[in-house]
Amino acid sequence: MKILVIGNGGREHAIIKAIKKNKDVEKIYAIAGNGGIAADAECVTIGVKDIEKIVEFAVANKIDYAVVAPDDPLVLGAVDALSEAGIPCFGPNKNAAIIEGSKVFSKDLMKKYGIPTAKYEVFTEAESAIEYLKTCDFPTVVKADGLALGKGVIIAQSYDEAVDAVRSMMEDKVFGKSGDNIVIEEFLTGPEVSVLSFTDGKTLVPMISSMDHKRARDNDEGLNTGGMGTVAPNPYYTEDIAKECMETIFMPTMNAMNAEGRTFKGCLYFGLMLTPKGPKVIEYNCRFGDPETQVVLPLLKSDLLTVMQAVTEERLDEVNVEFSNGAACCVIMASDGYPTAYEKGYEITIPADVADHVYVAGAEIKDGKLVNSGGRVLGVTAVEDDLRTAIKSAYALTEKIHFANAYYRKDIGKRALAALTEEK
Ligand code: AMP
Ligand code: GLY
Repeated sequence: MKILVIGNGGREHAIIKAIKKNKDVEKIYAIAGNGGIAADAECVTIGVKDIEKIVEFAVANKIDYAVVAPDDPLVLGAVDALSEAGIPCFGPNKNAAIIEGSKVFSKDLMKKYGIPTAKYEVFTEAESAIEYLKTCDFPTVVKADGLALGKGVIIAQSYDEAVDAVRSMMEDKVFGKSGDNIVIEEFLTGPEVSVLSFTDGKTLVPMISSMDHKRARDNDEGLNTGGMGTVAPNPYYTEDIAKECMETIFMPTMNAMNAEGRTFKGCLYFGLMLTPKGPKVIEYNCRFGDPETQVVLPLLKSDLLTVMQAVTEERLDEVNVEFSNGAACCVIMASDGYPTAYEKGYEITIPADVADHVYVAGAEIKDGKLVNSGGRVLGVTAVEDDLRTAIKSAYALTEKIHFANAYYRKDIGKRALAALTEEK
C-alpha cells in the first residue's frame, strides 16, 4: 500500500513511524514532512493548505490511503476533497472539523447538548464584549473564535488585560478573521488531561490519557508554547473519571455531532479540566494532539493503520484498540528563545541508537546535514513499565542529542509523579 501523511511536525513523524510497522505498507509520502521525517518517508514539497495540489499528487501517485493530521487542512476540507477524488482518508470532513475550527460552534454545541464546559458568552463586536467584562470576575478567559496557532486564548488577570485582549483580537485583528467573533468564558481550575479518541461516528474508543506541558519554562512558568513535553498515562485521570467522561462528555459529543448532521470520523481530541465540580471540556481538537501523539502512539499495541482504516470504513467496533500497561514520556528539545526569537541552522547530532525514539518537528537537511529550522526541533520519547522510569529514560536519551542553543524543560512529568505519590 502507498500511504500519504499530510503534515510537517513531530506528531506526523510519530504517525508515520507507527504506520510504517504495518507490513502491507510499501511506501509512505509526507506532505511536506521535514528533514527528520525524510528518514522514514519521501517528503514532497507541497503546502499543507494547498488542497488542490495535494489531491493532484495523491491521484497521480495512486495513493491507497491518506492521513490528514493538522487542523488547517482539515478545517479547509482536505478530507472532503481527497474522498471525492476516490482516496480513502483518515480525518473528519470539513463540516465536522468545525468542532475545532470555531469555538463559538463548539461552545454552542456543548450548551445545546448539556456537555459540561465553562460558562461563556459570545460577542460579535468589541464594545458589547467590553461592557460585559465589567460584570466578570477575574481571571477570565478571552478566546478568538477561529484557529490561531494555539495562541488565541488569553487568560486575563484583570479587567484592563481582558479589554486589551478583546481589542487586539476584534479591532487590531492579530489573529485575522479568527478574531471576528470571540468567546469570553469563566476561568476554571484543576488538573488538565488530554484524551485523544478514535471515532467513526458509531463507536468511540478513547486512547490512553496524557498530560501536556504548555509553558516554556520549568514549574509551568514562561510563555505558552505548542507543548514542551508530555507523559502518558495521566495519573489524575482515574478509572472512575474515565467512566464519567465517557458518559457525560465523549459519547454525548459523538451523538451531538451526529444529531447536527456533522458525523465526526477521525481522531477527536478532548482537552479536559478536572474541576472541583467534575470534568469539563476546555477545548475540542479535530485531530491528534502534538506532542500528545508522541507518547500515545508508542503505547498503542494495535496496528495504527488497521484502526485508521476501520474508522474510515465505519467498522471501528470490529477492531481491537489496545494500549500497553506501560508509561511514556516525551521531552521536547527546542531552539533556545522559543516561542519568541531563536536562531536556526545548527547541526543536530542524533546517535543511531537514539533515532528510534526521536520525532522530528523543526529540522531540515542542508548540505547533507540535519539542522534546526524551527522553534520546537524534536521530541524524544521513552517507553518503560512505569512513569518514573520513562521520565528518567527520556532525559537520558535527550542528553545524547546535541545542537547549539538547544533548550528543554527539566521537569516534564514532575507534576504527574507528584500526583502518583499523593495517590498512595
Ligand atoms: P486552548 O488553546 O483552548 O488549548 O487553551 C490553552 C490553554 O488555556 C488551556 O490548555 C488551558 O490551560 C487554558 N484555558 C483555556 N480555557 C480555560 C478556562 N476556561 N479556564 C482556565 N484555563 C483555560
Ligand atoms: N497539545 C495541544 C494540541 O495539540 O492542541
